[in-house]
Amino acid sequence: INSNVAELLKSEGLLLQEVQLKGWVRTFRSNRFIALNDGSTINNIQCVIDFENTDENTLKRITTGAAIAIKGTLAASQGRGQSVEIQVTEIEILGDSNPDEYPIQPKKHSFEFLRENAHLRVRTNTFSAVMRVRSKLSFAVHQYFQERDFNYVHTPIVTGSDAEGAGEMFRVTTFKDNEAPVTEDGKVDYSKDFFGKETNLTVSGQLEAETFAMALGKAYTFGPTFRAENSNTTRHLAEFWMIEPEVAFMDLDGNMDLAEDFIKYVINYVLEKCEDDLAFLDQRLTQEEKSKPQAERSEMSLLNKLKFVVDNNFKRVSYTEAIDILRNSKPNKKKKFQFPINEWGADLQSEHERFLVEKHFKCPVILFDYPANIKAFYMRLNDDGKTVRAMDVLFPGIGEIVGGSQREERYDVLVDKMKVLGIEEKELWWYLDLRKFGTAVHSGFGLGFERLVQFTTGMNNIRDVIPFPRTPQNAEF
Ligand code: 4AD
Ligand code: MG
Repeated sequence: INSNVAELLKSEGLLLQEVQLKGWVRTFRSNRFIALNDGSTINNIQCVIDFENTDENTLKRITTGAAIAIKGTLAASQGRGQSVEIQVTEIEILGDSNPDEYPIQPKKHSFEFLRENAHLRVRTNTFSAVMRVRSKLSFAVHQYFQERDFNYVHTPIVTGSDAEGAGEMFRVTTFKDNEAPVTEDGKVDYSKDFFGKETNLTVSGQLEAETFAMALGKAYTFGPTFRAENSNTTRHLAEFWMIEPEVAFMDLDGNMDLAEDFIKYVINYVLEKCEDDLAFLDQRLTQEEKSKPQAERSEMSLLNKLKFVVDNNFKRVSYTEAIDILRNSKPNKKKKFQFPINEWGADLQSEHERFLVEKHFKCPVILFDYPANIKAFYMRLNDDGKTVRAMDVLFPGIGEIVGGSQREERYDVLVDKMKVLGIEEKELWWYLDLRKFGTAVHSGFGLGFERLVQFTTGMNNIRDVIPFPRTPQNAEF
């Protein structure tokens, strides 16, 4: 039978069956034992060669990274840590891999080295596990929303609007004959952007998703977004994937319920479907933690962290309450915050967010009702006139994983806000139309998909959870 390694490893009932497999050699020991991996699981299957009856040239070509096809008999294994192995009867080398040149050796490589070899790193245990979990998580995202009758909306990548009003956009310019358009005095001529209109890569699909919520009731996006902000951190990418649900007739409380329920669902889904990969990643993280000084070690294993999140309520705290806590706290006995919180109205830094989650509440936190002037223009103003119906979900080790809000549905209030911020009505006339024709309370949020993958896999650097990271240093692949 044709099979894959994942199935065979579970198939003790098939002992003595003839099997065929194709995959890549991970290691080859004693001229006899091939650890074969075909990507279907983190685990390798042991393939035992009858080396006395295999020609010398073939044996030489069984090297790490080579693609091979084998036929053989599935047998109970004598080796430790594996229940079955394959007694090989036929072997064919499909693609050689010169061991003197192949960058991925059967040893531990640094993540920095592997980032430079992003086209090959998914062949390692860690990255194959991360990418399988990533794939399952994205399926869970769609399943969650589809089961609840949300409509998947494909929002534009090239757009004329700045959804966040933060000015962190990559410009899109038309090139003709390989030359950037220039004015007579030699400056870049932006009037030639996208055939005459100023355009950029989207920073968020929210505004367009709102148009769908106000017609179909429930909508969500799941697509790439781009930010030209400083991405030299372990939590920022210039290109990342965002999930943005948007729901008509839902207020901020409903929005918090949705975010919490959604996150728990997708984490539960991978806990169930990615057992082997998560067990491997849990071990990896435990090893990594051991190399840290005691005080910096995480108290919980990866699996316990995931279970903790799905089993416990997120703590909901207003910005104002959070500021009171932070003013009266120190991150530890000796140290103050790098940016001490002195007054109401200050924006929270990741050190504050992580303090609240990791030290104070010791669970995921949803902060809400932020000061209006540190949040985006479209958030609904509260009756106090100074806070908006914003929410951020904060996670251990990650900080902000979700940002969302109840939207300003009142035409006049929104127009006034845009005036204050210098956003021109003619730029967002279509967005204002939603408030002119059949306006209603509505809310939504954005979840940074890579931050979710980071949390779920326990990877420290966001560059290691996306296949080809776009950061200021890297756009090669
Ligand atoms: O908080 P943000 O900027 O919110 C929005 O874009 C809203 N329009 C979302 C909405 O209400 N529909 O971004 C949302 C999330 C953040 O919480 C974070 O998880 C992630 O997107 N994010 C990034 N992830 C990786 N790299 C970056 N540079 C990111 N910037 C934001
Ligand atoms: Mg945010």
